[in-house]
Amino acid sequence: MEQQRDKSRVLILGSGGRESALAWAIARSKHLEKLFVAPGNAGTTQWAENVDLNPLNFAEVKDFVIREGIHMIVVGPEEPLVKGIHDYFLADANFRDLAVIGPCKEGARLEGSKQFAKDFMQRSGIPTAAYASFDLSHLAEAKQFLAGLKPPYVLKADGLAAGKGVLIEPDLASAEAALEEMLAGHKFGAASDKVVIEEFLQGVELSVFVLTDGLHYKILPEAKDYKKIGEGDTGPNTGGMGSVSPVPFADAAFMEKVENRIVKPTIEGLRREHIPYSGFLFIGLMNVDGDPYVIEYNVRMGDPETESVMPRIESDVLDLLWAVHDRNLDQVELKTSPDAAACVMMVSGGYPASYEKGFVLEGLDKLGQDALAFHAGTKTGAQGEVLSAGGRVIAVTCLAPALGEALAKAYAEVGKIGFEKMYYRKDIGKDVCR
Ligand code: AMP
Ligand code: GLY
Repeated sequence: MEQQRDKSRVLILGSGGRESALAWAIARSKHLEKLFVAPGNAGTTQWAENVDLNPLNFAEVKDFVIREGIHMIVVGPEEPLVKGIHDYFLADANFRDLAVIGPCKEGARLEGSKQFAKDFMQRSGIPTAAYASFDLSHLAEAKQFLAGLKPPYVLKADGLAAGKGVLIEPDLASAEAALEEMLAGHKFGAASDKVVIEEFLQGVELSVFVLTDGLHYKILPEAKDYKKIGEGDTGPNTGGMGSVSPVPFADAAFMEKVENRIVKPTIEGLRREHIPYSGFLFIGLMNVDGDPYVIEYNVRMGDPETESVMPRIESDVLDLLWAVHDRNLDQVELKTSPDAAACVMMVSGGYPASYEKGFVLEGLDKLGQDALAFHAGTKTGAQGEVLSAGGRVIAVTCLAPALGEALAKAYAEVGKIGFEKMYYRKDIGKDVCR
């Protein structure tokens, strides 16, 4: 047992900027013997060996765990968790000592089913937007409920829809049409067989990250994500165009409300309802006139928030993750940097709609010593060159004592990188930077 704590062989599942930042953080641990990322990207090879595994093929993952003597799996995206990867290994007595960082299927329903999450919040007295959920057999009631709300109207597919299942409609007619498309037209496939209709919350969003062993928890540095493609928060939603941490408006008084009204009741609610939960919990919040409301839970870290959160964690990340497995997170200190982190995501022109890939990334060798380049959609070409291979291509993070300085540094580094048709937002952090 001690052996695996001190010479940990770790497998990260996933391939984006989030997994790059996790790989970077874990690679700094004094307890690491060997790190693998499956499938990884061109950048993760700086810190880990990439393995060509499909994170959703649990049998394939299991074979690799046996072959390489893996002690810990860190699950980056939600899908393997919602599909039960943690349960899969728990069910096999041979893997009793294997740490799987991420909740079991039941806990992962906090992200896998919006209705489950909302009902849980209601039972636990956690502030969230008023809501009701409906299936096709209750279309008339759903329309009635919509009519009783004020615009704009928020409609959410109950199940996982690759981050696209939330529609915000400006008027009642478009909301009713969207509702029919979701329930009757299967707009998001089976994910929209049930639809949650919510009251619209007006405010500023914030991402709060909790690491928990089920009994104890640590609140990690919070972050703000920039979801829209266009400057000034315009245009369609993306996976995220940049992030900053800390978030100036999330002062001690606000974070105390978050802890007392949301984090504690969430962890206590899960225990009371015997829902086992360990790993990361990402709470998407709306700051409504100084009061936090939960928009959603995710059962993983955020992307691109991880790219500004991980660099601010000074504790050995494997100490924290082993404590999650050992259920003694209270015994480990979370040390964070007072510095601000700014992350700018560079994307393929056209994203989030269609875009071209396969362009060479130039200038990566010119980046400053303290710049962190977290690859997202990249792959290594035949000559060892780095090629764009996705919508979100690479995230650049810099730290500095003040956020303005961190942003200036990050943009200076971004200016050194070039690839055909690249795009990035030039206003990340501007709204919160005074
Ligand atoms: P989600 O996919 O659940 O993260 O939702 C996508 C985005 O929709 C969120 O990041 C919010 O910007 C917005 N959103 C979701 N629910 C609400 C709500 N009740 N009020 C206002 N905005 C919302
Ligand atoms: N950045 C938002 C997310 O990871 O869902």
